[in-house]
Amino acid sequence: MQYNVAVIGSGPGGYVAAIRCAQLGFKTAIIEKYDTLGGTCLNVGCIPSKALLDSSEHFITAKNHFAEHGIDIPAPKVNITQMIKRKSDVVKANVDGIAFLMKKNKIDVLTGVGSFVDKNTIKVTAADGKESVITTERVIIATGSKPTPLPFASFDKKRIISSTEALELKEVPKHMIVIGGGVIGMELGSVYARLGSKVTVVEFLDSLIPTMDGSLGKELLKVTKKLGMEFFLGHKVTSVQNSGNEVTVKAESKDGKVVELKGDYCLVSIGRKPYTDGLGLDKIGIETVKGQIPVDEHLKTKVDNIYAIGDVVKGAMLAHKAEEEGTFVAEQFAGQKPHVHYLLIPGVVYTWPEVASVGYTEEQLKTDGKAYKVGNFPYKALGRARASMDTDGFVKILADKQTDEILGVHIIGARAADMIAAGVTAMEFRASAEDVSRMSHAHPTYMEAVKEACLAATANRPIHL
Ligand code: FAD
Ligand code: NAI
Repeated sequence: MQYNVAVIGSGPGGYVAAIRCAQLGFKTAIIEKYDTLGGTCLNVGCIPSKALLDSSEHFITAKNHFAEHGIDIPAPKVNITQMIKRKSDVVKANVDGIAFLMKKNKIDVLTGVGSFVDKNTIKVTAADGKESVITTERVIIATGSKPTPLPFASFDKKRIISSTEALELKEVPKHMIVIGGGVIGMELGSVYARLGSKVTVVEFLDSLIPTMDGSLGKELLKVTKKLGMEFFLGHKVTSVQNSGNEVTVKAESKDGKVVELKGDYCLVSIGRKPYTDGLGLDKIGIETVKGQIPVDEHLKTKVDNIYAIGDVVKGAMLAHKAEEEGTFVAEQFAGQKPHVHYLLIPGVVYTWPEVASVGYTEEQLKTDGKAYKVGNFPYKALGRARASMDTDGFVKILADKQTDEILGVHIIGARAADMIAAGVTAMEFRASAEDVSRMSHAHPTYMEAVKEACLAATANRPIHL
């Protein structure tokens, strides 16, 4: 078959690119090695993790808060089999939805490993070994990423596990040791802590979610300690050993103190690495750099008709970043002049309370020597938060000291994941803190904390603090 565009990989980068290409009139094929579409995000990432986060949050609410609300129920129990089944049903509905979208947009789905024969020819090898060959004018590589193992302990997938296995457990761990206090460690760690596991997080750096504004990691530490999670920050893991049903983890603090932890599961969540195995990049003369496919500002590789997007290229490993890049590349093919504003790609951690961030962190502004103002507003001063007893957290606004333009929005608190869109909008339109503080925000809502933090940033004049 002859195509205008062939997309390799059907994650959020690949399938969005394919849909946008089809919308723009290109004859498009998408090649996916697995039987289901949607990539990491839909199958073993964003969607299943959020399904379990939601179920476990329902459980903890029923267990710890219903009585306070005047709802008396017998002590709730966890049915992990049903919880995992519901998660799988959610995944199925989503991946089937992508298959439907491919049909609707007349995109050919080719199941098998895609590998380059040359810059216009791709071989697709199905699981049963059958091969087919397509030709194409352009290619978008969207092959995503895989979990990074520790250099000295590979995933055995039974006791030393990655996020993929942590989404499929058949029992609630007694003691889950989590290596890496980043996004996956905190999201999946909090799932199992809510379900009753003892969860111990060992993090190499001195703070949790270290790429985000420092204040968020500090608050997250406080609230997840309340959940019973235990932390060893500033600890380097030196060994991980599985002896049957028990995993022993040894870690060392900066001053040389050794801790030894024993658990039934060890989740290793120390980052992900770009995935290019089997792609045959050598056939087209592309060499990876630190695993990534090098691209220019148009997301074009060194080969003229070949582009790459998402986790396999530089930048944040986020589904919505991959999606933006998919659209960006497709629109360039159509001669349009799209852009991706990387600074305004929000980051969210779906713990409860949620953590969400956009723009510069305070640490970055300090490093850049930028003069800035800070406006903080705590959830505990918010009527809506008190009404639902979700009073942990705050909104922090960073604004330019001279112009008052908003430079960063950092939120930890209930519904932060949805609220951050307001920060993105404000920053896209280059609003000042005062602009936002003069807009009417419905009462009582969590969003009022953003308005109050903007009042605090404008001229230190919050109303309810
Ligand atoms: P992927 O989604 O990884 O898709 C790549 C696809 O390419 C895969 O289906 C793979 O099978 C296929 N493929 C690879 N090589 C070939 C080949 N040679 N031939 C054919 N097919 C091939 N991000 C968020 O924004 N929000 C979240 O809440 C979130 N939660 C996450 C939770 C977890 C547990 C994990 C692991 C990740 C999460 N992420 C989240 C990150 C998100 O999943 C990724 O950033 C996103 O999936 C990247 O999209 P992609 O299209 O680049 O690649
Ligand atoms: P991460 O980069 O978020 O966190 C990894 C953590 O492990 C860091 O804090 C790092 O300091 C620590 N670490 C690294 N090596 C270590 C070691 N040897 N010992 C102890 N700690 C060590 O990576 P994570 O959590 O694995 O997630 C991978 C990617 O998936 C992230 O880039 C993230 O963007 C994406 N993701 C996004 C989600 C979201 O948007 N909500 C949810 C889950 C994943």
